[in-house]
Parts: sequence; structure tokens; C-alpha cells
Amino acid sequence: MRLTEEIILLLLNEDSGYLEPVAGWNLSCVLAGAVLADLDLESRIDTAFDSLVVEDTTPVGDDLLDPVLATIVGDPEPRTVNYWVEKIANTSDEILDQSLDRLVKYGILDYANGGFWSLSRNAANVGYSMSSDNESRAIIRRRIVETILGDGIPDPRDAILIGLANACDAFRFLLQPEDYEATRNRIELLSRLDRTSRSVATAVVATSVHRSIPIATKPIPNISFLKVLRNDALWEGNMARLLADLYREYGPVFAVKFPLYRKRVFVLAGNKANIWFNRHARTNLRSKDTMMGMESVLGASRSLSGMDGAEHYRMRKAQHMAFTRTRMNEHLGDMFQAIRLEMDSWNEGDVLVARNACRRIMSGQVSELMVSLNLADYMDDILAFKNRMLVTHVQKALPKFFLRTPRMAAAARRIDHVYSMIRNSHTPAQRENKPRDLADDLLSLHAGDPQYFPETDIKFSTIIPFVAAMYAGTAMAFAVFAMFSNLDIYQRVRREAEALFANGDPDPEAFREETIDNAHRLVLETLRLYPSVPLQLRTVMNNCIVEGFELPVGSRVVLASTAVHYLEENYPDPQTFDIDRYLPGREENKKHGAYGAFGFGTHACLGPRVAEYQMAISLLMIAYYFELEILPSSYPLKINPFPTCTPRKSLKFRVKSKRPITSGQQAVASNA
Ligand code: HEM
Repeated sequence: MRLTEEIILLLLNEDSGYLEPVAGWNLSCVLAGAVLADLDLESRIDTAFDSLVVEDTTPVGDDLLDPVLATIVGDPEPRTVNYWVEKIANTSDEILDQSLDRLVKYGILDYANGGFWSLSRNAANVGYSMSSDNESRAIIRRRIVETILGDGIPDPRDAILIGLANACDAFRFLLQPEDYEATRNRIELLSRLDRTSRSVATAVVATSVHRSIPIATKPIPNISFLKVLRNDALWEGNMARLLADLYREYGPVFAVKFPLYRKRVFVLAGNKANIWFNRHARTNLRSKDTMMGMESVLGASRSLSGMDGAEHYRMRKAQHMAFTRTRMNEHLGDMFQAIRLEMDSWNEGDVLVARNACRRIMSGQVSELMVSLNLADYMDDILAFKNRMLVTHVQKALPKFFLRTPRMAAAARRIDHVYSMIRNSHTPAQRENKPRDLADDLLSLHAGDPQYFPETDIKFSTIIPFVAAMYAGTAMAFAVFAMFSNLDIYQRVRREAEALFANGDPDPEAFREETIDNAHRLVLETLRLYPSVPLQLRTVMNNCIVEGFELPVGSRVVLASTAVHYLEENYPDPQTFDIDRYLPGREENKKHGAYGAFGFGTHACLGPRVAEYQMAISLLMIAYYFELEILPSSYPLKINPFPTCTPRKSLKFRVKSKRPITSGQQAVASNA
């Protein structure tokens, strides 16, 4: 294990799923210092003097150290250790990513979607973690803390780690406050024990101080709202393309003043902005302000989407299981039933409003998965209420009293009814021998810690997945449109469907990457060209610099996460619908920061795999049972961008032909 990896384990905070909140640039310098110290321990360089000396140019055979060694060797000038700390610190994001990836590969850390790391269960087996009082801690953390609190002399490697941790002032987080105060002199002493640690730590401190002087930033371009109005993508309702156009013209950070919201809103766009958001939004941007209004409408104090920091991570972990493939497999039979129930009502010659039909398909199965009930009949009310909450309390485009109209009052009563159905069906007796669901998880979280997750907050948290189901339903409508607009894609998906469904409902294991390949790529391409959630809203809580532009504290930020979908440099010929972009060899979505359909950062979608699978399975079933045609056949797709992107009501499908809809068992019997 390298020092960079050890310093990460030392700084890992199991409660937040990330590193202790040491200042960003200080951490960068410490990672740079750790690489230099490792090269020194490998006798490639000598850092004992002011000027860094190369002793051996032979690569170490380690991809973390060798690129740095090559850079140092390739520089003909004599340079100080400070110089190299600062130079390498500029690439610390890559060093950090690489080290975290390696720890995951060793089986010491687990990575969770959204940018969270935790000690893996396996870490205990390989001697890297220990558990006490239900708390898991890296062994290294205990060892270093015990060394500080004891009176022994650390070995040289631990002395380096102490020096590096001290250089970024990490002991404030690693020790109890009284221990920290009592041991400050000893920490200083131990930090200077080893000569490498002494020189590297001194350089790290010097470099960190130097950088805390504010660096010059560029003025943020302002765009008039009129300019936005003149863009034809807006009138097509295509927010992702609009944001891509603005990015190409104004760069990665620009400001727009909306007429109703008098302050400037800062827009971040492009691959690098997405990468920045992924890494740094957790410390600089806040979600709470965006969600606050909506939460309070349903009586909640907070929710997963509106939490930040450690409490958000705890809530995400508590809900994580509900969004796994394992859970989906347990509910698969009910999900098939929910899809069939909807498809049963589609008859030959029927004309369907695409978005309504597809939303029902998705909300039926998402509600089966999340609360073990089919709530498709309540979808219209939940959707109408959610849209009105968005417009009145998040986008603030309408005054708040618009949420109290008779129509909205009736929708609110239906939501109350849905909630009581969920509660009544989740008593211990009702749930006996049933596969667990999200409602079970939330109710046990409440029972276990009613202070953290009070009664007031349960309703909002159980209802919100249906909002997500709407996004998936909208995406389905786009996907069905794409499938039946392109005969070749339809036939490819239908062939997969024949192989899967001809003998009745497939087992969960039958849905593998290769068996649903075309359907899955159809989903990915649909979400690229027609992302249902094109952007993410936040508030700046710490002054921060993105791509050289400073975002003022308190301002509103929009991450145009999907603007990258329309950039030629990511997706050649970006306007063309092409499911082969995702084939091995092309994999255009794998470019860093290039695929934003499920968002970036700590609040990135918790259910991307589930959503992708549910959509793929629904498309396969539609392709198996139906031939649909778009009405009229030359329909130019029109999108309604507010409050979220959906196809307009005018997108309709006519049922051209239909196979008899049988349950899984019936299909097997009739084939026999
Ligand atoms: C195609 C369908 C979907 C799309 C495009 C989508 C997209 C997104 C995006 C962009 C976010 C981030 C929002 C933000 O940061 O402001 C998000 C969050 C979330 N999504 Fe999805 N989603 C989809 C389906 C689903 C489904 C089906 C579920 C669950 C049943 C789900 C559960 C969630 C949850 C729980 C969060 C909040 C995570 C957090 O705040 O930590 N999503 N989704």
C-alpha cells in the first residue's frame, strides 16, 4: 500500500462516506507530498534538502508513482521540494481518484453511486479495518491515534503519515477536541521525527499557505433572457440542446437573469463542469434550499433530496437496498403483472396519448417495487400536485396560493389516501413473508431513530419515488417513440424479446447485459437525446471557483448536466439517434463527464440501474406484444420543457397489432 492510499484510509470518514473536511488545496498538497515521500522511500529521489535530488531514474513499476517520477526526471532545472509539491498538487484530483479506485480494487473500500466510499466488509478480513460499538474504522486510523495519545516512537512510515496529516490539520477531526488540545506539542514533535516527513511536510505547509492567497478569477459572462428566448432549441422544448448552444457560445460558466427571479442564476456546463460538480459540489453547494419549500408542503422537515453532508449519506444508505437489482428481482413477478395490467387495456386500433400510457406503465411497476402496491390510478393526482409544487415552491414561477386551488386540494387528499394505504398495508402482520420494500426500510428507520427520521417526514419520503416514476414514464414515452420511428431498432429489440418471453416470464437471471443489449442501448440513447431531468439546482454555500470563475456565496446554481449530450466532441453527429454509440469500441458515454442523464455528485440518481432495467424490460414487453405506429407517421417530436421535459400530449401511438396478453404461466401452458 502506498502513502497516498494510507492517508486516504486515515482521513476516511465513515459517517459522510468521504474524507474528513480538510481544506481542498491542503489535501492536494498532502497527496502530492505523499507521492514524493513514497518516491523517496523507494530511493528514487531525495527530499532531505531544499532542492529535490533524483537518485535513480528507474521506474518503480507503480502507475501512481511512475508518471510523477517521469515528470521530475524530465525536468532539467534544479527545483525545490516546495516547487514539486505545488506542481504535483495541481494533478491531485487524478491521484485521489486513482488511489480510491485502487483501494476499491484491493477490496478495502466499497464505492457507492453518487461518490461515496466506505470500508468494505472484506477490509476486516485483509486486516485493514476493525469494528467496535457498531463502528467500523480503518486500522490505520486507530494505530495513528493510539501513537499520538501514547508515548512511544512511531516507525518512520507512520511518522511520515503523522507529518502529512498534521500538514493538512487533520488531527482536529481524528482526535477528540480535548485530546487534540492536549497533544498538539507531541503531534508537532512526531511530525518532525523523520527527515522525509520533515521536509515534505514543511513544503506542504509552505505551499498550502502560499495558495490561500486568493487567485485571480475571470468575470462571468451575463446573458440576457432575451438571448435565451431567441434560441430555437427552447421553442422545441429541448433544454439539453439549448444549454449546449449556450455553453458553446459563452463557455463553462455564465449567468442568466430570469424575469421572475430577479437575481442572476449561474449556469455550469460542459464535461469539466460536470466533473467539478461530481467532486466538489459536496463541499460547496447545498441542496436543502431547493427542496425546503416542497418538503414543508407535505409537512416534512427534510428529505433525502434536500439533505446534505453526513445526514444525507446516512439517509442514502438507509434507502440504498430498495434501489438494488436484488430487490428488483424479488419483486419482478409483481412488476411483470403491473406492466401486463396496463398493456391489457391497449387494444387494436386504440389511439394512446404516449406520455400518459407510458407513465402508467412505469408508475405501476415502480410502486410495486417501492411500496408493494399498484398505484398507477393515483398517478395523475400525484403528478399534478408535484408539478404545481415545483412551479410554486422551487421554480417560483407562480404564487404559492396556486397550490391551494380546489383541484390541488383534491389531489392533496388523494395523496393522503395513498399514504394511508401504504401505512395500512405495512403493518407487521400484513408484511409477513413478503419481499421487503422501501416503505419497510423507511418505517424501520423511523422506529430505530425517530429523532433522525420523524413521523412528519415519512409521507414525503414514501411519495417521492412516484415523482421519480414520472421521469421514467416520460423517458419511456420518448423511447417508445424512438423504437417505432426506427424499424431496425424495433426489430432488434423484438428479437431479444422473442428470446426472453416466448416461454413465459423469464427468471431474473435471464436479464443479462447480453440478452437485453439492444433494449438497454435504446434506453441510454433515449436518455441522451431526450433527458427527462436535464439539469440540477443548488445554492452556493461556500465561495468556490469553477474553471477560473468565482461563484458568490448564496447564489443559485444550475448544473446543466446534460448539455454535454449535444456536444460533437462527445457524440459525433449528436442530433442523430444512434444506439450503437454504446457498443464496445465506441462507448461514447464513457468519456469523463459526458453522460449526465442521472445527474452528478452526491445526489445523483439512486436508482439509475433500476430505472434502466425497468425501462428495458417494459420496452421488451411492448415490442413482444405490440406493433405500434406513431400518429401521424411524420410527427415532429415536440417537447414540453416545464416544469420537467416531457413529450407533448400531441405525441400519440395507434395500436396496429397485438398478441394475446398472457401471464407467464399461461404462456408456458399454451406453448406446451
Ligand atoms: C429515467 C428515469 C430517471 C431519471 C432520468 C432520473 C434522474 C435523476 C437525477 C438527474 C437525479 C438528481 C437530481 C438532483 O441532483 O437534483 C435523481 C435523483 C434521484 N432519483 Fe432518479 N431518475 C430516474 C428514475 C428514478 C427512479 C425510477 C427512481 C426510484 C424508483 C429514482 C430515484 C431517485 C432518488 C431517490 C434520487 C435522489 C437521490 C439523492 O438525493 O440522494 N430515480 N434522479
